[in-house]
Amino acid sequence: MSERVIPIISQALGSLAIPDLLGGGVQSLGLPLRDTLKRPLRDLRISVTDRCNFRCSYCMPKEIFDNDYKYLPHSALLTFEEITRAAKSFIALGVEKLRLTGGEPLLRKNIEILIEQLAALKTLDDRPLDITLTTNGSLLAKKANALKAAGLNRVTVSLDGLDDEVFKKMNDVDFPVSDVLSGIEAAKAAGLGSIKINMVVKRGTNEQEILPMAHYFRGKGVALRFIEYMDVGATNGWRMNEVVPSAEVLKTLQLEMKLTPLAPSQLGETAERWGYLNEQGLHDPALGEIGFISSVTKAFCSDCNRARLTTEGQLYLCLFATQGYDLKELIRDESQPDKLIAAIANIWTQREDRYSQLRDIEPPQLNSLGENLSKRKVEMSYIGG
Ligand code: GTP
Ligand code: 5AD
Ligand code: SF4
Ligand code: SF4
Repeated sequence: MSERVIPIISQALGSLAIPDLLGGGVQSLGLPLRDTLKRPLRDLRISVTDRCNFRCSYCMPKEIFDNDYKYLPHSALLTFEEITRAAKSFIALGVEKLRLTGGEPLLRKNIEILIEQLAALKTLDDRPLDITLTTNGSLLAKKANALKAAGLNRVTVSLDGLDDEVFKKMNDVDFPVSDVLSGIEAAKAAGLGSIKINMVVKRGTNEQEILPMAHYFRGKGVALRFIEYMDVGATNGWRMNEVVPSAEVLKTLQLEMKLTPLAPSQLGETAERWGYLNEQGLHDPALGEIGFISSVTKAFCSDCNRARLTTEGQLYLCLFATQGYDLKELIRDESQPDKLIAAIANIWTQREDRYSQLRDIEPPQLNSLGENLSKRKVEMSYIGG
C-alpha cells in the first residue's frame, strides 16, 4: 500500500498580522529598503490567476487539482487597477522588476490591458521597469504580438522536454511540444527579447531530455535554464531522490559541448550562468546561454530580493512560506496610498525568510518513501513561480 500522503489543500491558513508602523515612518527607513538580512526589495512577482491549463506533476498534480478543486472566485481577484496600484507602492520602495505569473498568466482575460498599465510606470529614478512574464507557452503564439504591443519586455517559457511523449507526461494534459515551440518562435518574431526557457529536471521522468534541449536551443539566442525540482507546496509528493543536482546536469552537458562559466549579470540572480565555447575555444554569446537554478543543492537566499503578491492580494516573502500578509483591504482603499506603502515597508524590513538555506541545516521531514511530509507550505500555482 502506498504511504503517499495527499493533504487537504487549503490556502486559507490565516494571514500574518501586518507589523506595527515603525516610529520614524517610512521616510526614516531609507531606500533601497533592506530586510533583516540586508536584502533589498527589487523584484515583485505578481500572480494574476491560480488556474492553469497544464497539470505538471511537480506543480498541479491532477489528482489534487481536479474538477472539485476550489479555485479563487472571480470576486476575490485583484482587479487590474488594484494590481497597478499595488505595483506603484512596491515601486515607491525600490522595486525595479515586475514578473507576471500564475498559474498560467495568459489565461487571465485581457492581460495585455494590465501590462499596458504597468508599462506606464517608472522606477524611482525614472527608468522603465523590467516587465516580464512566465508562461507555459500554450497561448503564446496567439498572444505574443499583443503582449509586445502592450509593453511587455520579455518572456520566460517553461518547457520540460522536446520529446512529445515525455512532455505530455510532464504537462499531463496531452499538450504537444510543437505548439510551445511555435509560441517561442512567435515571441521572438514579436520582438520579446532575451527569451528564457525553464526546464525542471525530474529524475526518472525527463533527464534524458537534457542534451536534446541543449542542442536544440544552442544558437537560437535564448537562455536555457535547468531547474532543480523543488519541495515547494504540499501536493507534488516531492522526493529528494527525484532531484537531479545541477552539478550532474552540467556533467551531462559537458559530455557533448564546451561550456564556460559567466559572471552574474545582476545581484540576486537565481541562475548560475554558463556560455558556449565556439570551435576556437572562445566564448560565443551568439550561441546563447545555459543557466542552472540550484535551489536544492546551492541555496541562493542570501541575495533574495523577491516579493510575491498573490491573485487575491496576499504578500508572501518566500516561495516556501506557509502564510502571507493580507494586503487586499489596503490595496482596495484608494484613499490612503501611504498606508499601503508603510505596511509593505514594515513587512519587508522585518523579513527573515531563507527557506532553502535552512533546508540544509534542518532538512524537511520525509516518510519512509522519501516523500516530503510538510503539509503547510503554500502552492506555487497560488503564489507564482
Ligand atoms: P529572470 O530575471 O528572468 O532571470 O528571472 P528569474 O531568474 O527570477 O527566473 P524565473 O522567474 O523564470 O524563475 C525560474 C525558476 O527559478 C522558478 O520557476 C523557480 O523554480 C525558481 N525560483 C525563482 N525564484 C525563486 C526563489 O526566490 N526561490 C527559489 N527557491 N526558487 C526560485
Ligand atoms: N520545482 C521547481 N520549479 C517549479 N516550478 C513549479 N513547480 C516547481 C517545482 N516543484 C516552476 C517551473 C515552471 C514555473 C512556472 O514554476 O520553473 O517553469
Ligand atoms: Fe501550470 Fe506552470 Fe504549474 Fe505547469 S508549472 S502546472 S504550466 S503553472
Ligand atoms: Fe528567496 Fe525563499 Fe527562495 Fe530563499 S527559498 S531564495 S528566501 S524565495
